[in-house]
Amino acid sequence: MGFFSFTQELAMDLGTANTIIISDDEIVVNEPSIVALDRNTNKMVKVGEEAKLMYEKTNDNYRVIRPLRDGVIADFNACEQMMRGLIKNAQKGSHLFSPSLRMVIGVPSGSTEVELRAVRDSAEHAGGRDVYLIFEPMAAAIGIGQEQQEAGMDPKDCLNVEAPEGNMIVDIGGGTTEIAVISLGGIVSNNSIKMAGDDFNSEIQEYMARQHNVKVSERMAERIKIHVGSALTDLGEQGPKDYVVHGPNRITALPMEVPVCYQEIAHCLEKDITKIETAVLSALENTPPELYADIVRNGIYLTGGGALLRGLDKRLTDKIDIPFHVAKDPLLCVAKGTGVALKNVNHYSFLMR
Ligand SMILES: Nc1ncnc2c1ncn2[C@@H]1O[C@H](COP(=O)(O)OP(=O)(O)OP(=O)(O)O)[C@@H](O)[C@H]1O
Ligand SMILES: [Mg+2]
Repeated sequence: MGFFSFTQELAMDLGTANTIIISDDEIVVNEPSIVALDRNTNKMVKVGEEAKLMYEKTNDNYRVIRPLRDGVIADFNACEQMMRGLIKNAQKGSHLFSPSLRMVIGVPSGSTEVELRAVRDSAEHAGGRDVYLIFEPMAAAIGIGQEQQEAGMDPKDCLNVEAPEGNMIVDIGGGTTEIAVISLGGIVSNNSIKMAGDDFNSEIQEYMARQHNVKVSERMAERIKIHVGSALTDLGEQGPKDYVVHGPNRITALPMEVPVCYQEIAHCLEKDITKIETAVLSALENTPPELYADIVRNGIYLTGGGALLRGLDKRLTDKIDIPFHVAKDPLLCVAKGTGVALKNVNHYSFLMR
Protein backbone atom coordinates (compact mmCIF):
# COMPACT_ATOMS: atom_id res chain seq x y z
CA MET A 1 0.00 0.00 0.00
CA GLY A 2 1.00 3.53 -0.35
CA PHE A 3 4.15 4.63 -1.96
CA PHE A 4 3.56 3.39 -5.49
CA SER A 5 -0.21 3.30 -5.77
CA PHE A 6 -1.45 6.61 -7.03
CA THR A 7 -5.10 5.75 -7.25
CA GLN A 8 -6.87 5.05 -4.03
CA GLU A 9 -10.29 3.46 -4.03
CA LEU A 10 -12.88 4.18 -1.36
CA ALA A 11 -16.47 3.05 -0.95
CA MET A 12 -18.64 5.29 1.18
CA ASP A 13 -22.04 4.98 2.80
CA LEU A 14 -22.82 8.60 3.53
CA GLY A 15 -25.69 8.19 5.97
CA THR A 16 -27.82 10.59 7.98
CA ALA A 17 -26.65 8.94 11.19
CA ASN A 18 -23.40 7.13 10.33
CA THR A 19 -20.77 7.33 7.63
CA ILE A 20 -18.79 4.22 6.78
CA ILE A 21 -15.80 4.02 4.46
CA ILE A 22 -14.40 0.79 3.06
CA SER A 23 -10.99 0.50 1.45
CA ASP A 24 -9.39 -2.77 0.29
CA ASP A 25 -12.33 -4.75 1.71
CA GLU A 26 -11.79 -3.32 5.14
CA ILE A 27 -13.88 -0.91 7.15
CA VAL A 28 -11.49 1.96 7.73
CA VAL A 29 -14.02 4.51 9.01
CA ASN A 30 -17.27 3.94 10.89
CA GLU A 31 -18.28 7.16 12.59
CA PRO A 32 -21.35 9.26 13.33
CA SER A 33 -22.10 11.81 10.57
CA ILE A 34 -21.25 14.80 12.71
CA VAL A 35 -18.77 17.63 12.28
CA ALA A 36 -17.68 20.41 14.64
CA LEU A 37 -16.77 23.75 13.05
CA ASP A 38 -15.14 26.81 14.53
CA ARG A 39 -17.74 29.54 14.37
CA ASN A 40 -15.22 32.27 13.55
CA THR A 41 -13.07 30.63 10.90
CA ASN A 42 -15.61 28.01 9.77
CA LYS A 43 -12.75 25.46 9.84
CA MET A 44 -13.29 21.88 10.93
CA VAL A 45 -12.31 21.23 14.54
CA LYS A 46 -13.45 17.64 15.05
CA VAL A 47 -15.26 15.03 13.01
CA GLY A 48 -17.16 11.79 13.69
CA GLU A 49 -17.00 10.22 17.13
CA GLU A 50 -15.02 13.13 18.56
CA ALA A 51 -17.54 15.63 17.24
CA LYS A 52 -20.38 13.55 18.68
CA LEU A 53 -18.89 14.02 22.14
CA MET A 54 -19.40 17.75 21.62
CA TYR A 55 -22.93 17.42 20.22
CA GLU A 56 -25.55 19.23 22.34
CA LYS A 57 -22.74 20.33 24.68
CA THR A 58 -21.08 23.26 22.92
CA ASN A 59 -20.45 26.88 23.74
CA ASP A 60 -20.70 29.82 21.35
CA ASN A 61 -17.33 29.18 19.73
CA TYR A 62 -18.34 25.99 17.97
CA ARG A 63 -21.08 24.75 15.72
CA VAL A 64 -21.60 21.02 15.95
CA ILE A 65 -23.62 19.93 12.96
CA ARG A 66 -25.23 16.87 11.48
CA PRO A 67 -24.90 17.88 7.82
CA LEU A 68 -27.48 15.36 6.57
CA ARG A 69 -31.15 15.40 7.40
CA ASP A 70 -33.76 13.03 6.03
CA GLY A 71 -31.11 11.24 3.97
CA VAL A 72 -30.02 14.31 2.01
CA ILE A 73 -27.40 17.00 2.46
CA ALA A 74 -28.87 19.86 4.45
CA ASP A 75 -25.66 21.85 4.99
CA PHE A 76 -23.28 21.75 2.02
CA ASN A 77 -20.25 23.35 3.57
CA ALA A 78 -20.46 21.18 6.69
CA CYS A 79 -20.97 18.05 4.61
CA GLU A 80 -17.92 18.76 2.51
CA GLN A 81 -15.78 19.40 5.55
CA MET A 82 -17.06 16.23 7.17
CA MET A 83 -16.32 14.14 4.07
CA ARG A 84 -12.88 15.68 3.79
CA GLY A 85 -12.15 14.90 7.45
CA LEU A 86 -13.38 11.33 7.24
CA ILE A 87 -11.55 10.64 3.97
CA LYS A 88 -8.40 11.91 5.61
CA ASN A 89 -8.98 9.50 8.50
CA ALA A 90 -9.40 6.69 5.97
CA GLN A 91 -6.06 7.51 4.38
CA LYS A 92 -4.18 7.93 7.63
CA GLY A 93 -0.46 7.62 7.13
CA SER A 94 -0.65 5.38 4.08
CA HIS A 95 0.42 7.85 1.43
CA LEU A 96 3.26 10.22 0.82
CA PHE A 97 1.38 12.15 -1.87
CA SER A 98 -2.32 12.63 -1.92
CA PRO A 99 -3.46 10.02 -4.44
CA SER A 100 -6.12 10.27 -7.08
CA LEU A 101 -9.34 9.09 -5.51
CA ARG A 102 -11.88 6.76 -7.04
CA MET A 103 -15.07 6.60 -5.01
CA VAL A 104 -18.41 4.84 -4.98
CA ILE A 105 -20.99 6.53 -2.77
CA GLY A 106 -24.42 5.28 -1.72
CA VAL A 107 -27.31 7.72 -2.22
CA PRO A 108 -31.01 7.43 -1.31
CA SER A 109 -33.07 5.97 -4.13
CA GLY A 110 -35.55 8.84 -3.94
CA SER A 111 -32.85 11.46 -4.62
CA THR A 112 -33.59 14.24 -7.07
CA GLU A 113 -31.06 15.28 -9.74
CA VAL A 114 -30.14 18.24 -7.58
CA GLU A 115 -29.51 16.03 -4.56
CA LEU A 116 -27.34 13.66 -6.61
CA ARG A 117 -25.37 16.63 -7.91
CA ALA A 118 -24.86 17.85 -4.33
CA VAL A 119 -23.35 14.54 -3.21
CA ARG A 120 -21.12 14.39 -6.28
CA ASP A 121 -19.95 18.00 -5.79
CA SER A 122 -19.20 17.42 -2.12
CA ALA A 123 -17.21 14.28 -2.97
CA GLU A 124 -15.26 16.08 -5.67
CA HIS A 125 -14.49 19.03 -3.44
CA ALA A 126 -13.35 16.59 -0.79
CA GLY A 127 -10.82 15.09 -3.21
CA GLY A 128 -12.74 12.53 -5.29
CA ARG A 129 -11.58 12.41 -8.94
CA ASP A 130 -13.62 9.54 -10.27
CA VAL A 131 -16.94 9.45 -8.46
CA TYR A 132 -19.68 6.87 -8.97
CA LEU A 133 -23.03 6.86 -7.21
CA ILE A 134 -25.15 3.84 -6.32
CA PHE A 135 -28.69 3.76 -4.98
CA GLU A 136 -28.64 2.60 -1.37
CA PRO A 137 -31.21 -0.24 -1.61
CA MET A 138 -29.19 -1.69 -4.50
CA ALA A 139 -26.04 -1.47 -2.38
CA ALA A 140 -27.90 -3.01 0.57
CA ALA A 141 -29.04 -5.92 -1.60
CA ILE A 142 -25.49 -6.53 -2.83
CA GLY A 143 -24.30 -6.35 0.78
CA ILE A 144 -26.87 -8.93 1.87
CA GLY A 145 -25.82 -11.26 -0.98
CA GLN A 146 -22.23 -10.87 0.15
CA GLU A 147 -23.14 -11.67 3.77
CA GLN A 148 -24.98 -14.79 2.63
CA GLN A 149 -21.96 -15.95 0.65
CA GLU A 150 -19.68 -15.35 3.61
CA ALA A 151 -22.05 -17.35 5.80
CA GLY A 152 -21.48 -20.30 3.47
CA MET A 153 -24.86 -20.31 1.75
CA ASP A 154 -25.07 -22.10 -1.61
CA PRO A 155 -24.21 -19.39 -4.21
CA LYS A 156 -27.33 -20.45 -6.15
CA ASP A 157 -29.51 -19.41 -3.21
CA CYS A 158 -27.75 -16.15 -2.38
CA LEU A 159 -29.37 -12.85 -3.25
CA ASN A 160 -28.10 -11.88 -6.70
CA VAL A 161 -29.17 -8.42 -7.83
CA GLU A 162 -28.53 -9.28 -11.47
CA ALA A 163 -30.75 -12.37 -11.52
CA PRO A 164 -34.18 -12.21 -13.18
CA GLU A 165 -35.77 -12.46 -9.78
CA GLY A 166 -37.57 -10.05 -7.50
CA ASN A 167 -36.10 -9.15 -4.12
CA MET A 168 -37.46 -6.57 -1.74
CA ILE A 169 -35.24 -4.54 0.56
CA VAL A 170 -36.49 -2.37 3.44
CA ASP A 171 -33.68 -0.13 4.73
CA ILE A 172 -34.60 1.80 7.87
CA GLY A 173 -31.81 4.31 8.49
CA GLY A 174 -31.56 7.47 10.53
CA GLY A 175 -33.35 9.81 8.13
CA THR A 176 -35.17 7.69 5.56
CA THR A 177 -36.83 4.35 5.15
CA GLU A 178 -36.25 3.06 1.67
CA ILE A 179 -38.22 0.24 0.20
CA ALA A 180 -37.19 -1.12 -3.16
CA VAL A 181 -37.80 -4.09 -5.40
CA ILE A 182 -34.76 -5.15 -7.37
CA SER A 183 -34.51 -7.41 -10.40
CA LEU A 184 -32.05 -7.75 -13.30
CA GLY A 185 -29.65 -5.21 -11.83
CA GLY A 186 -32.19 -2.43 -11.59
CA ILE A 187 -34.71 -0.95 -9.20
CA VAL A 188 -38.16 -1.93 -10.42
CA SER A 189 -40.13 0.08 -7.91
CA ASN A 190 -39.20 2.08 -4.90
CA ASN A 191 -40.84 3.95 -2.13
CA SER A 192 -38.85 6.24 0.12
CA ILE A 193 -40.34 7.93 3.16
CA LYS A 194 -38.76 10.41 5.53
CA MET A 195 -39.60 8.38 8.60
CA ALA A 196 -36.81 6.49 10.32
CA GLY A 197 -34.56 6.32 13.41
CA ASP A 198 -34.32 10.10 13.92
CA ASP A 199 -38.11 10.33 14.00
CA PHE A 200 -38.28 7.53 16.57
CA ASN A 201 -35.90 9.61 18.70
CA SER A 202 -37.97 12.79 18.48
CA GLU A 203 -41.12 10.82 19.19
CA ILE A 204 -39.46 9.50 22.37
CA GLN A 205 -38.31 13.01 23.35
CA GLU A 206 -41.85 14.31 23.02
CA TYR A 207 -43.30 11.35 24.87
CA MET A 208 -40.93 11.75 27.82
CA ALA A 209 -41.87 15.42 28.11
CA ARG A 210 -45.59 14.81 27.79
CA GLN A 211 -45.92 11.67 29.88
CA HIS A 212 -43.16 12.01 32.48
CA ASN A 213 -42.50 15.75 32.46
CA VAL A 214 -38.83 15.10 31.94
CA LYS A 215 -36.66 16.86 29.38
CA VAL A 216 -34.34 14.54 27.46
CA SER A 217 -31.77 15.29 24.77
CA GLU A 218 -31.70 13.74 21.31
CA ARG A 219 -28.85 11.50 22.42
CA MET A 220 -30.70 10.38 25.55
CA ALA A 221 -33.75 9.58 23.46
CA GLU A 222 -31.55 7.40 21.25
CA ARG A 223 -30.18 5.60 24.33
CA ILE A 224 -33.75 4.94 25.49
CA LYS A 225 -34.58 3.55 22.04
CA ILE A 226 -31.56 1.26 22.04
CA HIS A 227 -32.14 0.04 25.61
CA VAL A 228 -35.91 -0.37 25.65
CA GLY A 229 -37.09 0.36 22.10
CA SER A 230 -39.66 -2.09 20.79
CA ALA A 231 -42.15 -2.54 17.98
CA LEU A 232 -44.28 -4.93 20.03
CA THR A 233 -45.94 -4.42 23.39
CA ASP A 234 -45.36 -8.06 24.24
CA LEU A 235 -41.85 -9.43 23.78
CA GLY A 236 -42.32 -12.32 26.21
CA GLU A 237 -39.12 -13.61 27.81
CA GLN A 238 -37.01 -11.45 25.52
CA GLY A 239 -38.29 -8.15 26.90
CA PRO A 240 -35.49 -5.85 28.18
CA LYS A 241 -35.35 -4.57 31.74
CA ASP A 242 -36.60 -1.03 32.48
CA TYR A 243 -34.17 1.75 31.69
CA VAL A 244 -33.69 4.52 34.23
CA VAL A 245 -33.61 8.00 32.74
CA HIS A 246 -32.19 11.01 34.54
CA GLY A 247 -33.12 14.52 33.53
CA PRO A 248 -34.59 17.83 34.63
CA ASN A 249 -38.26 18.27 35.34
CA ARG A 250 -39.71 20.25 32.45
CA ILE A 251 -41.49 22.69 34.77
CA THR A 252 -39.56 22.86 38.04
CA ALA A 253 -36.09 22.05 36.58
CA LEU A 254 -35.47 19.76 39.56
CA PRO A 255 -33.62 16.52 38.81
CA MET A 256 -35.81 13.48 38.13
CA GLU A 257 -35.27 9.77 37.87
CA VAL A 258 -37.75 7.95 35.66
CA PRO A 259 -37.77 4.21 34.94
CA VAL A 260 -38.98 3.53 31.39
CA CYS A 261 -40.35 0.18 30.23
CA TYR A 262 -40.36 -1.20 26.70
CA GLN A 263 -44.16 -1.43 26.55
CA GLU A 264 -44.56 2.33 26.78
CA ILE A 265 -41.93 2.91 24.10
CA ALA A 266 -43.77 0.45 21.87
CA HIS A 267 -46.94 2.52 22.35
CA CYS A 268 -45.04 5.71 21.72
CA LEU A 269 -43.54 4.41 18.43
CA GLU A 270 -46.79 2.83 17.26
CA LYS A 271 -47.76 5.62 14.85
CA ASP A 272 -44.33 5.80 13.24
CA ILE A 273 -44.10 2.07 12.75
CA THR A 274 -47.56 1.97 11.22
CA LYS A 275 -46.33 4.49 8.64
CA ILE A 276 -43.50 2.14 7.72
CA GLU A 277 -45.94 -0.76 7.44
CA THR A 278 -48.17 1.27 5.15
CA ALA A 279 -45.22 2.19 2.95
CA VAL A 280 -44.20 -1.47 2.62
CA LEU A 281 -47.76 -2.41 1.69
CA SER A 282 -47.96 0.30 -0.92
CA ALA A 283 -44.63 -0.84 -2.42
CA LEU A 284 -46.02 -4.38 -2.62
CA GLU A 285 -49.13 -3.07 -4.32
CA ASN A 286 -46.97 -1.55 -7.04
CA THR A 287 -44.96 -4.73 -7.60
CA PRO A 288 -45.69 -6.72 -10.78
CA PRO A 289 -47.17 -10.17 -9.97
CA GLU A 290 -44.23 -12.29 -11.16
CA LEU A 291 -41.86 -10.36 -8.93
CA TYR A 292 -44.39 -10.41 -6.12
CA ALA A 293 -44.37 -14.21 -6.19
CA ASP A 294 -40.57 -14.22 -5.91
CA ILE A 295 -40.73 -11.87 -2.93
CA VAL A 296 -43.26 -14.07 -1.13
CA ARG A 297 -40.92 -17.02 -1.67
CA ASN A 298 -37.67 -15.25 -0.72
CA GLY A 299 -39.04 -13.10 2.07
CA ILE A 300 -38.30 -9.41 2.56
CA TYR A 301 -34.88 -8.24 3.75
CA LEU A 302 -34.76 -5.71 6.58
CA THR A 303 -31.64 -3.61 6.98
CA GLY A 304 -30.35 -0.27 8.33
CA GLY A 305 -29.99 0.49 12.05
CA GLY A 306 -33.78 0.65 12.46
CA ALA A 307 -33.97 -3.07 11.66
CA LEU A 308 -32.46 -3.63 15.12
CA LEU A 309 -35.60 -2.38 16.86
CA ARG A 310 -36.87 -5.26 18.99
CA GLY A 311 -39.74 -7.24 17.53
CA LEU A 312 -39.89 -5.26 14.29
CA ASP A 313 -39.31 -8.29 12.04
CA LYS A 314 -41.95 -10.28 13.88
CA ARG A 315 -44.45 -7.46 13.77
CA LEU A 316 -44.02 -6.94 10.03
CA THR A 317 -44.08 -10.68 9.34
CA ASP A 318 -47.36 -11.05 11.23
CA LYS A 319 -48.94 -8.01 9.65
CA ILE A 320 -47.91 -8.56 6.04
CA ASP A 321 -47.79 -12.34 6.03
CA ILE A 322 -44.48 -12.51 4.22
CA PRO A 323 -41.36 -13.49 6.23
CA PHE A 324 -39.03 -10.60 7.08
CA HIS A 325 -35.32 -11.41 7.50
CA VAL A 326 -33.05 -9.03 9.41
CA ALA A 327 -29.65 -8.76 7.73
CA LYS A 328 -26.73 -10.14 9.70
CA ASP A 329 -25.15 -6.72 10.07
CA PRO A 330 -27.88 -4.17 9.34
CA LEU A 331 -25.69 -1.14 10.06
CA LEU A 332 -23.05 -2.26 7.54
CA CYS A 333 -25.02 -3.71 4.61
CA VAL A 334 -25.05 -0.63 2.42
CA ALA A 335 -21.34 -0.02 3.03
CA LYS A 336 -20.45 -3.63 2.23
CA GLY A 337 -22.45 -3.51 -0.99
CA THR A 338 -20.82 -0.23 -1.98
CA GLY A 339 -17.48 -1.95 -1.39
CA VAL A 340 -18.43 -4.78 -3.75
CA ALA A 341 -19.62 -2.25 -6.35
CA LEU A 342 -16.27 -0.47 -6.12
CA LYS A 343 -14.54 -3.64 -7.26
CA ASN A 344 -16.96 -3.99 -10.15
CA VAL A 345 -17.24 -0.44 -11.44
CA ASN A 346 -16.71 -1.57 -15.01
CA HIS A 347 -19.18 -4.40 -14.76
CA TYR A 348 -22.19 -2.97 -12.91
CA SER A 349 -24.19 -0.90 -15.35
CA PHE A 350 -26.38 0.54 -12.61
CA LEU A 351 -23.62 2.74 -11.20
CA MET A 352 -24.08 6.41 -12.02
CA ARG A 353 -21.19 8.52 -13.19
N1 LIG B 1 -30.29 -1.33 18.54
C1 LIG B 1 -30.97 -0.39 17.88
N2 LIG B 1 -32.32 -0.30 17.97
C2 LIG B 1 -33.01 0.63 17.30
N3 LIG B 1 -32.43 1.55 16.51
C3 LIG B 1 -31.10 1.52 16.38
C4 LIG B 1 -30.29 0.56 17.04
N4 LIG B 1 -28.98 0.79 16.73
C5 LIG B 1 -28.98 1.85 15.89
N5 LIG B 1 -30.24 2.31 15.68
C6 LIG B 1 -30.68 3.46 14.87
O1 LIG B 1 -30.33 3.25 13.53
C7 LIG B 1 -30.18 4.53 12.90
C8 LIG B 1 -28.91 4.55 12.10
O2 LIG B 1 -28.97 3.56 11.12
P1 LIG B 1 -28.08 3.64 9.81
O3 LIG B 1 -26.64 3.80 10.17
O4 LIG B 1 -28.47 2.51 8.96
O5 LIG B 1 -28.61 5.02 9.20
P2 LIG B 1 -27.94 5.92 8.08
O6 LIG B 1 -27.50 5.03 6.96
O7 LIG B 1 -26.90 6.78 8.69
O8 LIG B 1 -29.18 6.84 7.65
P3 LIG B 1 -29.90 7.01 6.23
O9 LIG B 1 -29.74 5.72 5.50
O10 LIG B 1 -31.32 7.33 6.55
O11 LIG B 1 -29.20 8.16 5.60
C9 LIG B 1 -30.13 5.57 14.01
O12 LIG B 1 -31.36 6.27 14.03
C10 LIG B 1 -29.95 4.73 15.25
O13 LIG B 1 -30.57 5.34 16.38
MG1 LIG C 1 -28.34 4.23 5.27
